[in-house]
Amino acid sequence: MKMKYFYQQMLAFFVVMITLLIIMTIIFLEFTRNSTYHDTEELLFGYAEALVDGDLQEDQLEDAQFVLQNQDVVVTVFNSGNQMVYPSTQVPYSSGISDENFAQLKNGERITLTVQNKDFFGNHVDIALVYLPFFSQTNGNFAGFIGISSPISGIEDSLREMRSNLFTAFIISSLGAIVIALFFARYQVGRINRLRNATHRVAKGDFDVHLESSGQDEFDDLAKDFNSMAQSLQESQEEIERQEDRRRQFMADAAHEMRTPLTTINGLLEGLEHDMIPENQKMRSIQLMQNETRRLIRLVNENLDYEKIRSNQIYLRKQSFNAHHALGTIVEQLKGKAETANNQLQFSCSEELEIYADYDRFVQIIVNLVQNAIQFTEDGLISITAEKELEGSIITITDTGIGMTEEEVRNIWERYYKADASRKNTQYGESGLGLAIVHQLVQLHGGKITVESEVGKGSTFTILFPAKSKLTIPSQQ
Ligand SMILES: Nc1ncnc2c1ncn2[C@@H]1O[C@H](COP(=O)(O)OP(=O)(O)OP(=O)(O)O)[C@@H](O)[C@H]1O
Ligand SMILES: [Mg+2]
Repeated sequence: MKMKYFYQQMLAFFVVMITLLIIMTIIFLEFTRNSTYHDTEELLFGYAEALVDGDLQEDQLEDAQFVLQNQDVVVTVFNSGNQMVYPSTQVPYSSGISDENFAQLKNGERITLTVQNKDFFGNHVDIALVYLPFFSQTNGNFAGFIGISSPISGIEDSLREMRSNLFTAFIISSLGAIVIALFFARYQVGRINRLRNATHRVAKGDFDVHLESSGQDEFDDLAKDFNSMAQSLQESQEEIERQEDRRRQFMADAAHEMRTPLTTINGLLEGLEHDMIPENQKMRSIQLMQNETRRLIRLVNENLDYEKIRSNQIYLRKQSFNAHHALGTIVEQLKGKAETANNQLQFSCSEELEIYADYDRFVQIIVNLVQNAIQFTEDGLISITAEKELEGSIITITDTGIGMTEEEVRNIWERYYKADASRKNTQYGESGLGLAIVHQLVQLHGGKITVESEVGKGSTFTILFPAKSKLTIPSQQ
């Protein structure tokens, strides 16, 4: 059944109100009826006691009957054999009370036998009937009992009055209930609508919604949950936008990076096509094109590599290996390159030093840094040192090259960043991806890389490779 919340509230109020009023009416009516019965019975017992005290003289009974007949009171007296002695009759007449009641009377108990009747016209006529035993003054034996009856007058009137009072009360409280239900329902419906509006806003992509919540009831809890949902949606949206920006930036950068070698190759090919390149230069041109092609391939590979590292798509095969041996091999390979720029390359490392890392990635990191050092140093010294520390192994690569300004140092980890775009050294590459990859790789190892540099004096790159045991040693007190 479809029913608006407002009407549900109203219905609930009405059900409660009506149930309450019905219960109250029944209780009140019963109470009034019983107390009227009780009062009348007590009055009749009072008469009976007064008559018994007056020794039940016939003339006294006549007087009493005469006085009380105005109130429809009937007095009867029965002897110990349950035979009516007053008013005297020709035919013997017994009271008709049950044996049990008679036994009670004999025991000295007074009894009431109030009856609910209907008169000739169908109206309720309740009759109060009380019996009081009396005893012989000489021997104290049961001598008979006196019965007094009287219609309970006015009870129907007072009940009718009470019913009409209760009906008035019902109308007044119903009106009150409607007002209160209206107020409550409006208040709650207002809160629901607030939530609905906020939901519509979120559905339209506006996550900047905040609902007030005082933590009072379930609606407030819902508002709180709604706020945190909107907030996490906003965060996801921002992340999506950031990713989209990065993707756009990457496409722009990649296109820009590829344009230079492609333009060079294109120019040389056109020269060859139109035979504009002298014969003795042709070989050189082909070499140049080869260099540019290699550069393009490297650019594509490095980009792929970087993306793989960044999106956690590469798996590190970490192992412990000898640092002296690994660094020695790298130095051996790069010595030639260093010498072409008139640089001296040296390394110092304890022969026992162990490093815990992915070997191939370790070589990639160090080669990148040493190549940079060679690239940006002339007639200088490049030294590599490795040593053990509490946290792991520290490797430093120091050069006496051109150095960097503070701003350059801040930016070198950015992809495609080159401190000086005009600086070209195709021999070692200039894609501006090297340090971005190094940074990601070191982080992937759980390590740290820092740099100190001074313009004109040189730079020092420091890398920490955490020790394997660091993860397993329990903390000592
Ligand atoms: N040892 C260094 N001395 C001075 N500048 C450096 C040094 N190492 C890096 N840089 C600066 O940081 C920039 C970024 O270095 P990165 O290795 O990322 O790129 P790249 O060497 O230009 O190109 P590639 O991607 O081929 O390595 C360099 O262009 C250079 O300006
Ligand atoms: Mg580099």
